[in-house]
Amino acid sequence: MAPCAVTPETGQSLTVALGPRSYEIRVVSGQHEAFGAFVRRALEKTWGGGSRRTAFLVTDAHLAKLGAHLPLAESLAAAQIEPAIAVIPAGEPSKSLEQAARLYDNLVDRGADRHTVVVAVGGGVVGDLAGFVSATFARGLALVMVPTTLLAQVDSAIGGKVGINHPRAKNIIGAFHQPVLTWIDIQTLETLPDRELRCGLAEVVKYGVILDALLFASLEQNAARLLARDEAALRSIVFRSCELKAGVVAEDEREESGRRAVLNFGHTVGHAIEAVAGYDGPFEHGEAVAAGMVAECRLAQRLGWIGADVTDRVARLLEQLGLPIETPALDPALLLQAMRRDKKNRGGKLRFVLPRAIGSVELTDLAGEADVAAVLAGEEARTL
Ligand SMILES: NC(=O)c1ccc[n+]([C@@H]2O[C@H](COP(=O)([O-])OP(=O)(O)OC[C@H]3O[C@@H](n4cnc5c(N)ncnc54)[C@H](O)[C@@H]3O)[C@@H](O)[C@H]2O)c1
Ligand SMILES: [Zn+2]
Repeated sequence: MAPCAVTPETGQSLTVALGPRSYEIRVVSGQHEAFGAFVRRALEKTWGGGSRRTAFLVTDAHLAKLGAHLPLAESLAAAQIEPAIAVIPAGEPSKSLEQAARLYDNLVDRGADRHTVVVAVGGGVVGDLAGFVSATFARGLALVMVPTTLLAQVDSAIGGKVGINHPRAKNIIGAFHQPVLTWIDIQTLETLPDRELRCGLAEVVKYGVILDALLFASLEQNAARLLARDEAALRSIVFRSCELKAGVVAEDEREESGRRAVLNFGHTVGHAIEAVAGYDGPFEHGEAVAAGMVAECRLAQRLGWIGADVTDRVARLLEQLGLPIETPALDPALLLQAMRRDKKNRGGKLRFVLPRAIGSVELTDLAGEADVAAVLAGEEARTL
């Protein structure tokens, strides 16, 4: 069978504009048969790409059981890119040096070289680990991201951050390594557990608050459709989220100008919640970020930046999406202590990304520790 032609009708497309490292994000529904041809086209734009003949496809055990990678492997083979498959255990502990070493061994065994393309089929764990391996093996292999969780589709598969965890510090060993293509199949979300879907939606709410009031309003209108996994509704918010993240990344690829910090809304408190509750604790990342966004809205309220109506809108939407809006069991003093370690802080002052309105945020150090403590203790907003 001849490889499927690359036609403009195959899904929707946008470009992450990064000069020589620019790449395409393609959002499809099914359409696996076109995948191989798109990979080949993306590789042909890279140095030595036309001669790439092997793909190292990495996925996790849950997805392997579902067979999510099989049609992609077939499509690669049809495009004369010979696929080999590596399966890692599902879950965050796989973002480890041990699993990276296993993948390096596998690549060496297979005689992989710079003509090998790494294809990461999975959530953020697979993307971060396989991405890290592709960034470091032979000083960098081409990478194709095929994100299969909502979180990975709207966040981790865009922007080039790849990495693994140190036993005492999350994501501390890593690199910036942009993919040559990100291939997002909305249909893969059909099998995603509900909780994972909701966690991805928390990040989409974040994009609405920081950059796009229309996206926020459409989430309010379509919450039920999204939870019911209506494909058109999901496609629309995934595509818009990708556009928004791609725009921020294009302005600040390596987190140097401060622009990329806007993506941290909800995460200063969110990360503290994860640290205090424990990474294997009761809150998934998206849940911690949801509660973090509400706390940070309250902080903005204390500064007089927004009214209670804005915080209420954010909290109501998150509740509609089945996400937590507070974490009453956590000790505010411990949360504050964790926030003092946030990498945005400067000169001993806490810094937050806080909303000025739905769709607009600012990085600020105006919220002092007393304000943070008051918000965490559930005190009313200061009346100015
Ligand atoms: N690189 C970045 O910029 C960036 C950004 C945000 C998060 N991250 C990282 O992403 C990771 C979290 O990613 P995640 O939430 O995707 O978690 P994950 O990769 O662990 O996936 C969550 C679970 O869903 C399963 N799964 C994945 N796709 C599925 C599907 N289509 N159907 C059924 N089950 C499926 C997985 O097997 C796993 O059990 C964290 O390690 C975080 O640090 C990275
Ligand atoms: Zn996040």
